[in-house]
Amino acid sequence: MTKRQPFFYDITLRDGNQSLKKPWNTLEKEIIFNLLVELGVQGVEVGFSAASDMDFEACSRLAQIAPNNIVISGLARAVQGDIIKVAQAIEPANKPRIHTFIAMSPFNMQYVLNKTPEQVRKIAVEAVEFAKKTIGKRGEIQFSVEHFGDCHENIDYVIDSLQEVVKAGATIINLPNTVERTRPKQFVDLVEKVYSALPKDITIAVHNHNDLGMATAATVESYFAGAVQLECALNGLGERAGNTNMYEVAIALHNSGVNVPLNLDKIYETALTVSEMSGVKIYEKAALIGPDALAHRSGIHQDGAVKTKDMEKGAYRPIHPSLIGRKDDEKLGFTSQSGKTAIFEIITKAGYPISIQEAQRIAPIAKAEAEKIGELSTRNVIDIYYNNILNVKGPFKLCNMEKLENENIKLLFMYNNKSYDIEVAGNGPVDACIKAIQKAGFNCEFLNYEQKALNMGSDAQAMSIMFFKANDGQTIISRACDESTVKANIKAIFNGLNIIETL
Ligand code: KIV
Ligand code: ZN
Repeated sequence: MTKRQPFFYDITLRDGNQSLKKPWNTLEKEIIFNLLVELGVQGVEVGFSAASDMDFEACSRLAQIAPNNIVISGLARAVQGDIIKVAQAIEPANKPRIHTFIAMSPFNMQYVLNKTPEQVRKIAVEAVEFAKKTIGKRGEIQFSVEHFGDCHENIDYVIDSLQEVVKAGATIINLPNTVERTRPKQFVDLVEKVYSALPKDITIAVHNHNDLGMATAATVESYFAGAVQLECALNGLGERAGNTNMYEVAIALHNSGVNVPLNLDKIYETALTVSEMSGVKIYEKAALIGPDALAHRSGIHQDGAVKTKDMEKGAYRPIHPSLIGRKDDEKLGFTSQSGKTAIFEIITKAGYPISIQEAQRIAPIAKAEAEKIGELSTRNVIDIYYNNILNVKGPFKLCNMEKLENENIKLLFMYNNKSYDIEVAGNGPVDACIKAIQKAGFNCEFLNYEQKALNMGSDAQAMSIMFFKANDGQTIISRACDESTVKANIKAIFNGLNIIETL
């Protein structure tokens, strides 16, 4: 197993760029390059300078502005013209690297290159020799076996060729899974074979495409099989289904105890900018950075997420969001699969008081609504709270309450369709109201009440919270709001009576 620190080699500006619907110009590449510098990558493949004058210009510009500690690399086919262009473009860099490649899979040599394996080997060795001569002592040479992942049948030929390529001057050997076709394990086994066969001072790199969605797995496991240079792209940009996503590799290694030399807290911000600049939207479910990557919708997950939300390790998340600079919290969405915890969290976060008991009471109402319309918005949940916590409908209806000249209280209310008009003397409106209800023949075991000022929207309101004892002994909480404290109290009593009726 490798003990060396991973070397993050970014390919967003080359493989990523060549896959864009509108490849970046120099200015745009410079913006992405600066993000990479901030992120702290060790190497950047700045482009394919033979592709266009624009890309040549961009490669030169990035080589000029590159910090001294970053390897600046340019891609060249195994032809002299491409190699010369790369050498010219990256010449100003402090650590220049020419990256040349040719395919060595039986299929590609036969059907695409139309060459024998011996011819291909000769081209590879000559290209590396030429690149080495061109860059001189200042720089280094990376050689890639294009379609390495398809070299199962001829791996011995590939290893022999790589030994010659190394003798010719390449010090970095890159093993791409140019098209991901099978299991990561099969690819990693090939990487391990090459690692064992080459001198230990040679850096083994892997470059995985994501055609089957396992590029991150293949890259991470290749690191443990000896690959040190990990070729990754921001947001997983790259040909077809993209390249290995840098953030996923970085976090998987970090979580596996590897010292990752990146500023991980820059990840989220970088991802948003890259999406904006590339026009490639971040998939809702994208690992770590997707808008939904912190969302919990099932009651079980919501419960675990809330119980561990302030802990570094969470019950249902791989990292604390702050590790990648994500400021948004875990999100609880209320659907028909959700429960009381989500109600409690959504209402509390919206600034309204609620108890777990109340959340449990309105959860079925919210579920029924969510069954009809899908995930409820915060507004929907607040409406349910208003209609079922602050204004509980039921058989008891308050019609009027007035203070008489003799200081008695007159309460007018209805129970189902029967009206009650009761006069009582009481020690304040709450006491009088309770007495009036009891005098009318209803059992109402009142325990206590609290009042608080509440800023609901633009106007300040009084909130009254009442505690009753139900017939089964449980304590029932009811509440209500009004601009008048007295009215809030009386409404809360009636809400409590209606809640008790439903038990
Ligand atoms: O996918 C690939 O094989 C490449 C090489 C040029 C490294 O991008
Ligand atoms: Zn590639």
